[in-house]
Amino acid sequence: MARSAKRHPAEVIYQVYPSSFNDANGDGQGDIAGITQKLDYIKSLGVDSIWISPVYLSPPGPEGDGGYAVSDYRQIDPRYGTMQDFKDLLKEAHARGLRVYTDWVVAHTANDHDWFEKSRKGDPKYKDYYVWADGKQWNGRTVPPNNWKSVFGGAAWTYDQERGQYYLHHFLKSQPALNLNKKEVQDAVLDEMKFWLDMGVDGFRVDALPFATCDEKLRDNPWLYGIWPNVKEQWDQQRFDHSMIQPQTVDFIARIRALMDGYPEKKTTIGEATAGAEGGLNPLPVAAQYVDLQKGLDMSYTWAVNDISPKARDRLADIVRALGKYFPDGGHCLSVGNHDIPRTFSRTAANVPPAEALAAHKQMMEIFFTLPGSVILYQGEELALEQARIPLDIPLDKLKDPTAQTQGLDACRDGSRTPMPWDGGKPNAGFSSSNDPYLPVPAAHVPKAVAAQEKDADSMLRFMRKLIARRKARPALEAGTATVLNAGAPLFAYLRENGGETLLCAFNMSGQSFSFKPEDILDDATIGRLSLQKGQTVTLAAYGSFFKDAPPQGVKAAPAPQSPPPVIRKAV
Ligand code: NOJ
Repeated sequence: MARSAKRHPAEVIYQVYPSSFNDANGDGQGDIAGITQKLDYIKSLGVDSIWISPVYLSPPGPEGDGGYAVSDYRQIDPRYGTMQDFKDLLKEAHARGLRVYTDWVVAHTANDHDWFEKSRKGDPKYKDYYVWADGKQWNGRTVPPNNWKSVFGGAAWTYDQERGQYYLHHFLKSQPALNLNKKEVQDAVLDEMKFWLDMGVDGFRVDALPFATCDEKLRDNPWLYGIWPNVKEQWDQQRFDHSMIQPQTVDFIARIRALMDGYPEKKTTIGEATAGAEGGLNPLPVAAQYVDLQKGLDMSYTWAVNDISPKARDRLADIVRALGKYFPDGGHCLSVGNHDIPRTFSRTAANVPPAEALAAHKQMMEIFFTLPGSVILYQGEELALEQARIPLDIPLDKLKDPTAQTQGLDACRDGSRTPMPWDGGKPNAGFSSSNDPYLPVPAAHVPKAVAAQEKDADSMLRFMRKLIARRKARPALEAGTATVLNAGAPLFAYLRENGGETLLCAFNMSGQSFSFKPEDILDDATIGRLSLQKGQTVTLAAYGSFFKDAPPQGVKAAPAPQSPPPVIRKAV
């Protein structure tokens, strides 16, 4: 079947975690005015848009889950500033041509949200706003209604004395799940979204979409491995047949899309779909069902590449093929780093000798920024920051992430949430003038501060700017297909094609130089189209890359590659 020429937008999005980005008022906490101060920096990266993690009113302690437990969707939390600060940010971002996406926490509220307070009291209007159920009798005891588990550990149910029933929470018990199976709850949520769209935000990153709806009969999930009772009764040990990824989420998304389409200007939706149909694996097919050119999201982001290191060449090839299969019209968004997962640079560094880490990391980014779809760049990834260590960099008494308590230190996400280092010569590397910053700045981040990297022509920061510029300059990278070429290790190569433009991307994923000939990976016609010659030897330095493009008529040739130029020799 011929595919429509219409495709999902392809953007480069910069993710800001407000608590640790920039503190304008010196209270130790990153804030909205601090983001506004750094808009020129964000713009200088060449990105299209910003996604700002939640700044709504939220419980101050660990139960607030860093803003992902919302107490009131229409209020800015005072720790981040005021509504006027937000409006100023919007205005200044728009003046610079940056789109602004706020974070829509769709699947749950905080347990001090007015809706939940009323629901637990049985208020007729709100009583079904959340998922309530009676416990079951088991061996003379009352136990939760079913076997669903919380992502953050333990049962997904908590008993509420006031209501005399259990309520569902996929995350913390302070995050009761909204009952989005009900149309009136969807209506209420859409109304809250409208408030921000009317104000001028350009769209939303929609949090935890696979959790939005659940089985109305609340049936038990099957266990993934072995027979119940399982020694490790955790969320990722179950199939999510009933607790999440229900078909009605797609219908709800169509309503979100209709709301967005009601505006004359483009409003964008980016769904977080990082949990797959089987115990957290295989998120791509789930993420794909949420995007649709007419009725779905513009894009879904997954963690498809967030365990990829230079050693994972074959898996990377599988991912590129899977992106083509599940997202034929685009719509996939790579998350490169994230506030929920460890830093990309540390993953790379753990897999190569220390002296090779930076070159290997630059190549990882080069690969990520030449893959199809959109890309989200998380704050600090452009500086090659390493994961902060607990307790070496962050003492235990400074930890903020509640998962340190619910799941243990290994699961704690604070290691990727430390402050952005702006200037190594200033207190807290320029993040804040306070003696008590949100989290400490790891010593290893100080020399990697923005100011130092601006001055260094070989820095990660300057490399990232060039990468983003190249992506924007080439239609075949902005959209189009990716075809993995049949290359032997350590070479990884694919062709990007779009509207008559062909671009060869070839990567030597090893610490030794490597040579190949065009005919090793390309057919004669493509060799001719790319103006290569059979018999040429292309030699790539360690972690070196080779880009060769055949622009369509009237388009200028690609900017020069940023990696050390490959040596091309005629065969003798
Ligand atoms: C995904 C968010 O990115 C994460 O930080 C949060 O804890 C969960 N959703 C729950 O909202």
